[in-house]
Amino acid sequence: LKRYEKTDPMIDPVFKEPSIDNLVEIKRKELENHIRSKRDREAAEARAAERIAKINPDFLGENWKKKQAHYFINKDSVEKVKTNLVANNITYQMRDVNPQIFKVRRRRDLNGAITINDINNRYLSYDEQMQFLNSISQQYPNDVKLQKLGNSFEGRSITAVRIGDDGSNKPIVWIDAGIHAREWISYNVALYLIYTIVSQPAYRDLLNSVQLVVVPNTNPDGYEFSRTVDRMWRKTRSRFTNSRCGGADANRNYPFFWGTQGVSHSQCSEVYCGARPQSEPEVLALTNAIQREETRIKGYIALHSYGQEILYPWGHTQRTYPSDVEDLIKVGRAMASAIQAVNNTEYNVVNSGDGLYPAAGASDDWAKSRGIKYSYTIELSPIDDYIGFSLPEDRINQVCREAFQAIQVLMIEVKSKF
Ligand code: ARG
Ligand code: ZN
Repeated sequence: LKRYEKTDPMIDPVFKEPSIDNLVEIKRKELENHIRSKRDREAAEARAAERIAKINPDFLGENWKKKQAHYFINKDSVEKVKTNLVANNITYQMRDVNPQIFKVRRRRDLNGAITINDINNRYLSYDEQMQFLNSISQQYPNDVKLQKLGNSFEGRSITAVRIGDDGSNKPIVWIDAGIHAREWISYNVALYLIYTIVSQPAYRDLLNSVQLVVVPNTNPDGYEFSRTVDRMWRKTRSRFTNSRCGGADANRNYPFFWGTQGVSHSQCSEVYCGARPQSEPEVLALTNAIQREETRIKGYIALHSYGQEILYPWGHTQRTYPSDVEDLIKVGRAMASAIQAVNNTEYNVVNSGDGLYPAAGASDDWAKSRGIKYSYTIELSPIDDYIGFSLPEDRINQVCREAFQAIQVLMIEVKSKF
């Protein structure tokens, strides 16, 4: 547990020799942390076994081209699930998932400054992401401002990157990434976007009329947990008293039709919607920040993976659409074409409730309900892999370049309409 506060001794101007009492206290804390992380790791292993052995399937993503949906299911429920699939005339493939996939390879942060090369070629730690943001904001002090929106449950800063904020009232496009911890590619896409749009003179003009706000890591606790303990972790890391399970699905925790469809009220579920709307500090920070300037925000994209889909509202239920759905579809298709122009990668533009599944309390619906006209969830690549969260690192750059084109389309649309 690391708190990102001003208690760092490095910045304490007067260095005092720690007293024996202090040293004892420091050692005690170290030991406590060690025990806690060991306990976390053991719990993760138990969960891995349990996940393979549980009844409620964990939806991973889909391949709409092949009309496949991918789930983790319980080993003990295999026969039952098979009978059900056969009874419903659904063809299926099953394979034994090695519990190894829930484990992580620990990788030390590399020394040296983080550059765009790192973003393009590997997944970064949260600290490395923050380091990259700091260096960008120092390099482009006039164009990039970092804004702290709040703290995660474990005390990590949730940081927004404001690009082209000149104090004027121009319209805003808001992009956030990685509310689901295991969807790693989304973080790189957000960081790539920040770098590219400020470093290339070609986008000056666009930034003069549209402001961009990017929150590259909306779930830092979950992400660190998925990097170091349980690769398939999705939720936040909030702890509840008297419960063996922790974490809520932050994308079921937004205050719009909260807790109705496609959610669970059980703390152990992957789609646990939390005790109440905005119970998760991450969601509270994000909704507060958006609401402060909601009249200026005209575009919103939540970056997720996987499945190559551009999803538009409403998503809390099926067959209901906003009155301007035609506009959403038109711009959604323009984004998909821009992606396809890069390397012929196909994205499907579809209503999230009909095309995927109803899920209430998600950020896209909430953003739309606040009057943000163009609100989407994008499920990034891949589509072809059965555990798509592990997009190989040599494919990061292409996904970034494709998503960048889509975001540019939205910014241009906002520029011309508002
Ligand atoms: N995969 C995303 C999730 O499960 C999709 C959310 C789409 N939006 C919606 N309102 N259903 O959170
Ligand atoms: Zn997701």
